[in-house]
Amino acid sequence: MISKHILARARLLARPGGRSSQPLNKLQSRRYSAAPAVPASTPSTAANVPSKSSLNEDELKKFAAIAETWWEAEGPFKPLHAMNPTRLAFIRSTLCRHFGKDPCCSRPFEGLKFVDIGCGGGILSEPLARMGASVTGVDAVEKNIKIARLHADLDPTTSSIDYLCTTAEKLVEDHRKFDAVLALEVIEHVADPADFCKSLSALTENGGATLISTINRSMRAYATTIVVAEYLLHLLPAGTHDWSSFLTPEELVLILQRASVSVQEMAGFVYNPLTGRWSLSDDIVVNFIAYGLKEL
Ligand SMILES: C[S@@+](CC[C@H](N)C(=O)[O-])C[C@H]1O[C@@H](n2cnc3c(N)ncnc32)[C@H](O)[C@@H]1O
Repeated sequence: MISKHILARARLLARPGGRSSQPLNKLQSRRYSAAPAVPASTPSTAANVPSKSSLNEDELKKFAAIAETWWEAEGPFKPLHAMNPTRLAFIRSTLCRHFGKDPCCSRPFEGLKFVDIGCGGGILSEPLARMGASVTGVDAVEKNIKIARLHADLDPTTSSIDYLCTTAEKLVEDHRKFDAVLALEVIEHVADPADFCKSLSALTENGGATLISTINRSMRAYATTIVVAEYLLHLLPAGTHDWSSFLTPEELVLILQRASVSVQEMAGFVYNPLTGRWSLSDDIVVNFIAYGLKEL
């Protein structure tokens, strides 16, 4: 059952002028099924076709400036490296369930085509390829793609990754389709999140899976990901994130729903500053991931 709380908030947001800026509190359930029907007034086919470029040039410049640091253990992407095992645990379990694969198998995604949109240096693409998926990694920054290719070529289990410097909307124009479409920590950097979701949906095979992770537009996220991580601890370059471009979970559910992707499950990623480790949680007030089903 889709959480009534999220549903009610999503409906509120669907009203004209209904944007909410309040953080979402802890939810009772993170499991979703049948997404609410798309409002009858929403044009179906046209609404699912992306029309604009997802590129935000200012954001891309920030990533181009630090492209060479993708694989540095103590570099600006250290938080993403630290988060990787936790987000991979969620991805592995939801996608094994989705595709009826054995999660205990070493290469459960054999035979499946995945695309990693906004792949950066390939820190997610590589483990997905090791789990057997046929992976296409896409990033709008050429330097990222070069670094990703160089790194993947170091290992025969990842050298088959097809890295492309392009965008989701260009792949849609080329009529590309994938069993699973992943965009982790990207939506907060694109020009138009709703249009971006339409592209992700258009790239997903009917019945396939779409996964998005991002940061909630909550006060706690402002305090931790911007004030503490960027300005006090300098874990990330100052200005990496713009709080106003974060989405709340309800907003993400809604824009995915309008793009024909029904959110089935959400989870939070929580950081423990004492151990330096991330874990999966029901707490989606800061970092969260959503897994959705592309409707037929
Ligand atoms: C925070 S990084 C996340 C990298 C990777 N997804 C991960 O989580 O490890 C955001 C990435 O998205 C890329 N990006 C931003 N806007 C994009 C767009 N419109 N299309 C494709 N890539 C984009 C950036 O160049 C950057 O590599």
